[in-house]
Amino acid sequence: MKTSDNTTSTQPVNDNITSGENSSVWFDLVNEPISYETLKNDIDTDILVIGGGISGLTSAYCLAKEGRKVILVEDGFIGSGESGRTTAHLTCALDDRYFELEKIYDEPTAKLAANSHMKAIEWVANTIKRYEIDCHFKSVDGYLFLHSSDTKETLEKEYEATKRAGITTEMLNAIPGIEAEDGKGCIKFPNQAQFHILLYLKGLADAFIQLGGKIYTQTKAENITKEGATANGFTVKAKHIIVATNTPVNDWVTIHTKQWPYRTYVIGAKIPKGTLPYALWWDTGDQESKWVSQPYHYVRLAEYNDKYDVLIAGGEDHRTGQADEEEIKEEDRYTKLIEWTKKRFPASEDIVFQWSGQVMAPIDSMAYIGKNPGDENIYIITGDSGNGMTHGTLGGIIITDLIMGRDNPWTDMYSPSRITLKTTIDYLKEVGNMVSQYGDWIAGTDIKKPEDLKPGEGGIISSGFKKTAVYCDEENNLHTCTAVCPHLGAILQWNADEKTFDCPMHGSRFTTEGKVINGPATSDLKKL
Ligand SMILES: Cc1cc2nc3c(=O)[nH]c(=O)nc-3n(C[C@H](O)[C@H](O)[C@H](O)COP(=O)(O)OP(=O)(O)OC[C@H]3O[C@@H](n4cnc5c(N)ncnc54)[C@H](O)[C@@H]3O)c2cc1C
Ligand code: FES
Repeated sequence: MKTSDNTTSTQPVNDNITSGENSSVWFDLVNEPISYETLKNDIDTDILVIGGGISGLTSAYCLAKEGRKVILVEDGFIGSGESGRTTAHLTCALDDRYFELEKIYDEPTAKLAANSHMKAIEWVANTIKRYEIDCHFKSVDGYLFLHSSDTKETLEKEYEATKRAGITTEMLNAIPGIEAEDGKGCIKFPNQAQFHILLYLKGLADAFIQLGGKIYTQTKAENITKEGATANGFTVKAKHIIVATNTPVNDWVTIHTKQWPYRTYVIGAKIPKGTLPYALWWDTGDQESKWVSQPYHYVRLAEYNDKYDVLIAGGEDHRTGQADEEEIKEEDRYTKLIEWTKKRFPASEDIVFQWSGQVMAPIDSMAYIGKNPGDENIYIITGDSGNGMTHGTLGGIIITDLIMGRDNPWTDMYSPSRITLKTTIDYLKEVGNMVSQYGDWIAGTDIKKPEDLKPGEGGIISSGFKKTAVYCDEENNLHTCTAVCPHLGAILQWNADEKTFDCPMHGSRFTTEGKVINGPATSDLKKL
């Protein structure tokens, strides 16, 4: 999908349409990258937005609408980060329960959080209407039901808490669309929504350009300071810089000790149209999980062709680079997900998609949106957890108000500088997990020598303290890099499913050839 007002890229920086080997259902319809020209000169602007996912594009659009001069740079293409791998539920049924938010914060804050997500859904609906964006947007109901490890008390407590938070939820005895869980009941959340993320982002990008904005794809921002950044080696001077890179690449430590990367898995199965109502379903999460952020299942339908919809089911999360801690490899997580889905949605047929992605889980359940700690004119949007569609939208709205000098009721609640004291146990658990990753420096590895690898396989080879990331390509050539993460020195793990080297500490990811895909690392792996 190339836009009419743009030239073809001549200096590809990142030619990956998406951040892994597998590609999501969304790329089935939009099978070409949403691309614009690359940056080829120095530039002076009012606002520089870094990142072409939902957070960056919403920020860019909102500020252009205020009449500001805005440019957006994206090192891949529009949606080639986690936005292109989402399942695009737009919901105020947050990953963490409202009764938990009341404990971590208080009742008024939980209510304010619910209000912010409901407003974000409304904002998306109005924007789609204003620009007539054809992105399969549907207003739907959502159903929260019990995970098999959970007890009825959770639903009852959550129902009461959602009422206090001002959401017009209802307790139902059955779960619409799921017979296998009959009699267990669920909480119905009305006025939730779903859309096709890439069609939405394309519509938002068009609106941004109509307002005078400029987008540069395959344009990587580096050396971010309060004066601006360099992009593809050119200087971009800016008064305000918004780092919307999913995980910040401008900060070495502060934010990365407040949020943790999780890998989550998705399958898409064909299902005859009309079998199920369009709706969102979530369970309450595995209460026996070893992870601080308990994995839960999330399900919706998406339009596929005249006869079929795709049933999209996700879950089976684990801390990035640590799948082996549960002895379930990345690639085996799909099998578990398929079993779970078939049991609850028996009308689902062939599996036509499978992919995984990364979510950043904040320690205190809310995204970090606002001024980067210690900076006056650098802003971040991160810690979205599984609610990045609404958090990303809120990011654009809140940062626009900050830059325009306007009050916003949600600014303090989402401030990246906030301190929350009631999460100490979870915090210590995650920090303990982080520190224990340095143990990989002395641990052995599965692969003893490069010859153990077949074409298409990778792994980490250990020789004393020397750790090497090795990939054997389809032509049987070996690619070798250091396996030491350039961020803070953890040892990378091979992800055989997405064919990447993933950092178990803060979630940096690298291609088979050692090119950085995800921060916080900002440089590639050293070739050996
Ligand atoms: C499998 C999965 C399912 C999910 N389901 C849902 C859901 O149903 N509902 C929901 O609300 N949320 C969901 N989420 C979360 C949500 O998708 C994300 O939180 C959201 O898309 C993040 O958007 P973003 O714009 O912040 O980041 P991204 O979309 O990752 O965008 C960041 C962009 O920055 C670019 N970039 C990085 N570094 C640089 C640089 N130096 N220079 C230039 N560009 C750079 C990247 O290429 C990338 O395109 C899901 C996530 C996953 C992985
Ligand atoms: S991402 Fe921080 S050490 Fe690798």
